[in-house]
Amino acid sequence: MGRVERVRAFCRVNFIPTMLALSPTDRVFVLTGAGVSAESGIQTFRGAGGLWRNYRIEEVASPRAWQRDPGLVWEFYSMRRRTAAAAKPNPAHFALARLESALQERLFLCTQNVDNLHEQAGSKNVVHMHGELFRSRCDTCNRSPFQDTNSYDPPGEPPRCECGGRIRPHICWFGEVPFELDRIFAALEICSVFMAVGTSGVVEPAASFVAHIAGHARTIYVGPEEPANASSFTECLLGRAGEVLPNLFGA
Ligand code: OAD
Repeated sequence: MGRVERVRAFCRVNFIPTMLALSPTDRVFVLTGAGVSAESGIQTFRGAGGLWRNYRIEEVASPRAWQRDPGLVWEFYSMRRRTAAAAKPNPAHFALARLESALQERLFLCTQNVDNLHEQAGSKNVVHMHGELFRSRCDTCNRSPFQDTNSYDPPGEPPRCECGGRIRPHICWFGEVPFELDRIFAALEICSVFMAVGTSGVVEPAASFVAHIAGHARTIYVGPEEPANASSFTECLLGRAGEVLPNLFGA
């Protein structure tokens, strides 16, 4: 069986989403990925125009890269800070903020994105499992992560902490453990609807969330193409997040 046939045997593909019917007791877990910010002008990582075509990921997003060349790492994240600072939330971010207003604590919004577009759209409780672009921390002492919107481009030296350590981006790099996994898995256990939006389904552990809850929740994917883990979803709604989500959640 070819990949697409196999996917379709499990995942019902739908191009015209209707409004999502939710009961007053439903608990909704939404996982967003780079695709939710694509219509805001922030490039996704994989696919056409993906970020890693210009930068090899291991050169810029791993503890090893940090040890080898912190200046290059900061150049990369400074570029990403500037791009994100210029971006504005799109209708997908606003639709999710409205969903939070309606569901309150029955919505758990977890993002792999490090931009702050969900917050700019009005979402109040966002779990950033891969960290936050506009926060930094010390790579040596245990001072808390702090807000930092600066750019640190070469030839300037990367910033230093009072303790002598280096200030690094507050980002989960490859080889590091994502943030808030206890809270995330607790929310997965009790959700009745799981929705992934704009994520290619290849980066763990997020790619396995849908398999983790399969059987006890309705599972929906939203994006223009089927993700790598499409066979784990019961429904795939094919389209751009900025068009699908406002229809799905209503005005
Ligand atoms: P990817 O770049 O892997 O996937 C983005 C997905 O968004 C693709 O499946 C696209 O089809 C989809 N997409 C594109 N435009 C869209 C739109 N308008 N609406 C909805 N979907 C759209 O991004 P992620 O899966 O988020 O980690 O990547 C996961 C992690 O890999 C990132 O958080 C990052 C990266 O390495 C770290 O930096 C630690």
